[in-house]
Amino acid sequence: MSENQNPQPSHDVTPHGGDGTLAQADRFADPGVPEHHPRLADSDPRAAKRNERLIALLFVVSAIGTVGSLVAYFAVRPDGTTEGVRLSTLLLGVGMAVSLLGIGIAAVHWAKTLMSNKEYIEERHSSSSSAEVRETVATQFQDGYKDSGIARRPVLLGSVGLALALFPLSIAVPLVSSVGGDWNVSKFRHTLWQKGTRLAYDPSGRLIKAADLTVGSVAHVIPDVPAEERESHHWITEKAKAVVLLVRLDPRDLKRDHREGASHDGIVAYSKICTHVGCPVALYEQQTHHLLCPCHQSTFDIADGAKVVFGPAKRPLPQLPITVDDEGYLVAEDDFNEPIGPSYWERLK
Ligand code: FES
Repeated sequence: MSENQNPQPSHDVTPHGGDGTLAQADRFADPGVPEHHPRLADSDPRAAKRNERLIALLFVVSAIGTVGSLVAYFAVRPDGTTEGVRLSTLLLGVGMAVSLLGIGIAAVHWAKTLMSNKEYIEERHSSSSSAEVRETVATQFQDGYKDSGIARRPVLLGSVGLALALFPLSIAVPLVSSVGGDWNVSKFRHTLWQKGTRLAYDPSGRLIKAADLTVGSVAHVIPDVPAEERESHHWITEKAKAVVLLVRLDPRDLKRDHREGASHDGIVAYSKICTHVGCPVALYEQQTHHLLCPCHQSTFDIADGAKVVFGPAKRPLPQLPITVDDEGYLVAEDDFNEPIGPSYWERLK
């Protein structure tokens, strides 16, 4: 690589024509490198100092973002409510964004304003790395180190060290602190559904009558629970476990229930949590009665016990047994027939 002090004189490049001759019409002039314009910081030490302070400030902002995300992680724990989860996620995300943006913008600004901006011409060369090349690369690293000016800019050195040293904490601390968390798989065995729980539309909570559903209807359903349950800190978790997709088929199309007698007059209710790795399955194809998981395309046939007809899932979706009460509302007859969730969780307890 050589430094370009003067633009290269133009010269012609002469590729071969289709017949092997040099095509005159294909010739073009090498435009060379644009004229070099020094930056303000190259000639004005005060401008360089201003840029240095700005870069240091950006690294400090990054460090503050990291500390902020850690404070948010410990101080604003999700309390089980939707608002709590949103607030916690928002604060963590903002902290990490400030942290990363601070480092990124500072690095770009440093490169554009303080590092060497001389143009270089790099000739094409073989990709093999000879001893000579390695030596050149090492020299370039050393030159880059000198160009960065970090040795004589202790404020920058300190601030970049602070930002880079702290940033991994915003990822490592949540990971480490989750070790030893609550991994008790038996909590997937029981959900809010129990005998007599009415089915309600999600999110309105309106109760569902069997007579309201026409053939082909699809509804996203949650259990109708007392107000104190909905206001409890574990509602959001329990609701997530209990979500159901309700579909009305023509009873003649129904080949079998996953759990015998679990449907009502062609109305079937299955857990929305995919048995592969837990995405919500919600794409229903009325003609085939197939239910598709958008994550990895596992497909379940809800006319045939939600058995897997395609994709990586290994088990049918758990079925919620349903019937109607005296007023015609759909109610659960029991909890799901087996633990909800992915196959890698123990489902037999
Ligand atoms: S989570 Fe449904 S197919 Fe993977």
